[in-house]
Amino acid sequence: PQPTVRIEGGKVTAILPTGDSVEVLLYGATVISWRNNGKENIFVSEAAKLDGSKPVRGGIPVVFPAFGPPPKDHATGALPQHGFARNSTWEYLGKSSSESGALSKGGDDSVKLDFGLSSSNISADHKKAWPYDFGLVYSVTLGKDGLQTMLNVRNEGKEAFEFQMLLHSYWTVDDITKVAINGLGSTTYIDKVLDGGEHTESQTGLKITGEVDRVYKSIKQDTTSISSIDGKPRLDVTRDNISDTVIWNPWIAKTKAMADLRPEDSYKHFVCVEVGSVDGWQKLEPGPSNKGKGKAAAGPPSPQKEG
Ligand code: BG6
Repeated sequence: PQPTVRIEGGKVTAILPTGDSVEVLLYGATVISWRNNGKENIFVSEAAKLDGSKPVRGGIPVVFPAFGPPPKDHATGALPQHGFARNSTWEYLGKSSSESGALSKGGDDSVKLDFGLSSSNISADHKKAWPYDFGLVYSVTLGKDGLQTMLNVRNEGKEAFEFQMLLHSYWTVDDITKVAINGLGSTTYIDKVLDGGEHTESQTGLKITGEVDRVYKSIKQDTTSISSIDGKPRLDVTRDNISDTVIWNPWIAKTKAMADLRPEDSYKHFVCVEVGSVDGWQKLEPGPSNKGKGKAAAGPPSPQKEG
């Protein structure tokens, strides 16, 4: 049997013969569901807007070309928080089920969906604020072993540009107070809640006990794992060609203050582990041979690592 792909209502849905599935909105190329072995891995707020009126609160919004509020003195300075990719409508470029780039071997048990965004698809305001010619291809591969997301950036203009990128992934967890995040030990991070300063992670299993908003930089380990405090593995998030990760949970007061994050105890049911390149800027020269890219994969922890 072949994977099935449906395109309707501004959304692309792919279903594997196993029943595993992924749903991607053309708006923002936002992954809004990834089910694996019957379990939903992607958190989407009940109050999220899915009609293109604002970025989705939940899912995997794509952050490009700037992370956070862009610095006023930078070329991205006039753009909104997290750039324009998450609130532009992307083009569906098609599917393939080749083995290359797929998570699992053997063609038919994986499917890759490609989405494109270029300077010609963004709003006049965004183009005015960031007048570069660029081309993005975002590939979402659903395989039996997990979900892979990869962003490729091309510079199609005549001058170099600088960018940041991030896959702002909201992962479901049963109970945030019982979660431990592993694989960030000894890494330097910026603590945006505490003081905006640099710190070094001393915990091996990071526990979330209040609002957390941290940028872990140049991480040596490829894998960040979400597990329960007592060691039950939940998800492995792996990085390829990309070295930073943001850990975010708004906790009680910030959740209340965000009208599109409901119910009010939502913060208990997700953690953002966001793979990206957000420390400083990647400079991309024009030309087809110059590519900025970053790949993130997520899947159930591999059996070898559990023991
Ligand atoms: C995180 C940032 O990636 O996104 C946080 O580190 C921010 O600072 C959060 O609050 C949510 O951003 P937004 O724009 O979706 O409300």
